[in-house]
Amino acid sequence: MKLSIIGTGYVGLVTGTCFAEVGHHVICVDNDAAKVKMLQAGGIPIYEPGLEELVKKNVAAGRLKFTASTAEGVQNSDVIFIAVPTPPQPDGSVDLSYIERVARDIAAAMTSYKIVVDKSTVPVKTGEKVTETIKRYCTAKTEFDVVSNPEFLREGFAVGDLMKPDRVVIGVGSQRPVAAMTEIYTPFNAPIIVTDINSAELIKHAANSFLALKISYINAIATVCEAAGANVQEVAQGIGLDERIGRRFLNAGIGFGGSCFPKDLSAFIKISEQVGYEFKLLKEVQRINADQMERFVKKITDTLWVLKDKKIGVLGLAFKQNTDDVRSSPAIDLCQRLLKDGATLRVHDPKAMDKAKSFLPNVTYVDDMNAVAEGCDALVVATEWDEFKQLDLARAKAGLTHPIMFDGRNLFDPAAMEKLGWIYKSVGR
Ligand code: UGA
Repeated sequence: MKLSIIGTGYVGLVTGTCFAEVGHHVICVDNDAAKVKMLQAGGIPIYEPGLEELVKKNVAAGRLKFTASTAEGVQNSDVIFIAVPTPPQPDGSVDLSYIERVARDIAAAMTSYKIVVDKSTVPVKTGEKVTETIKRYCTAKTEFDVVSNPEFLREGFAVGDLMKPDRVVIGVGSQRPVAAMTEIYTPFNAPIIVTDINSAELIKHAANSFLALKISYINAIATVCEAAGANVQEVAQGIGLDERIGRRFLNAGIGFGGSCFPKDLSAFIKISEQVGYEFKLLKEVQRINADQMERFVKKITDTLWVLKDKKIGVLGLAFKQNTDDVRSSPAIDLCQRLLKDGATLRVHDPKAMDKAKSFLPNVTYVDDMNAVAEGCDALVVATEWDEFKQLDLARAKAGLTHPIMFDGRNLFDPAAMEKLGWIYKSVGR
């Protein structure tokens, strides 16, 4: 099929590339001319495992193109996906100005029937607004359908999540776009759920909020485990093997971050408020998440006492493993807290050091993870990168003035660490 994707952020670029990979013809549009140039020249603006190869392959096959012109994308495709940012506003509600702008641009360029699909995460009833806007600004007065098709990919695993989705949600206002949407997704061999537009929009916020709730739940359990002398990982295993609960997203740590969960929780609380429901459960999810960071900082200060003049090594800056994304990263928050209390930091991240520099200009960036601990009073693990499990513990221990590790992601085994002579503090164990 002939598709265009407006917006080449994480969602837009990965979606467009995976659509091309299964044989569709895709035009990716972005209003950032420099980014388009970079993509046209074979550069990838984000780190996402497996993406670069797929982009190159599909560009070479002539199925994937990049342009800065929305009109070019709209006029050369039957289905247009909107994948632009929906950032939070100070009161927690969603800034929909990019969506509105794109809806107008699409409307102005339409000269024949189009299916306009919203892929960005939006509040329920945004589809109605997009429909009204296109109607108002479409000078050619052509027919169109608006569809809601939320995206569930995770950063760092985006290509895999897109190629093998658990489900595809298609929210429609009429039957007309269903056949085309089904054809687009048939190659992905996933269950396709057709709903009304409002339900599709709500599914996205409900899903992310539930996953955030799962993390806060296990973090609350971790607090009880610490007080009771139990081990949160064993508890997670014990409850997670119940298929109704599931083991995934039950890893305790310093809390969730990233550009989705914190923003989507605030938005969903706000949306619920606007329809007359105070979602206290989700407010508690937020509170537990904030508390989790406080409790971890307290663990550090309880042990090191005064942080002024202390040197701390930090492993991890990205908001999670497999990404260079540091937006709303708990690891960056933690570093800022330690700096505020007067510590100096030596930091390492396998992919996120460049992006971290604007948030943390006054720390020492160390290329080799095994050298981070040198001359430090303690070592902190802040992101769950798998490679940190391969840390040269003997070298790290020798480099530290005292062998103290605060593991905010439970990467190491407490008994083994103690045996090796570490003062080892993790979360919920
Ligand atoms: C999340 C959802 O998982 C995706 O399904 C969704 O499409 C995406 O948001 C979005 O709305 O665009 P993402 O933000 O990429 O994906 O990251 P996650 O893998 O969900 O992790 C979010 C945060 O939770 C990270 O800070 C991670 O460290 C933390 N986390 C995750 C935990 O603390 N414990 C866990 O068990 C799992």
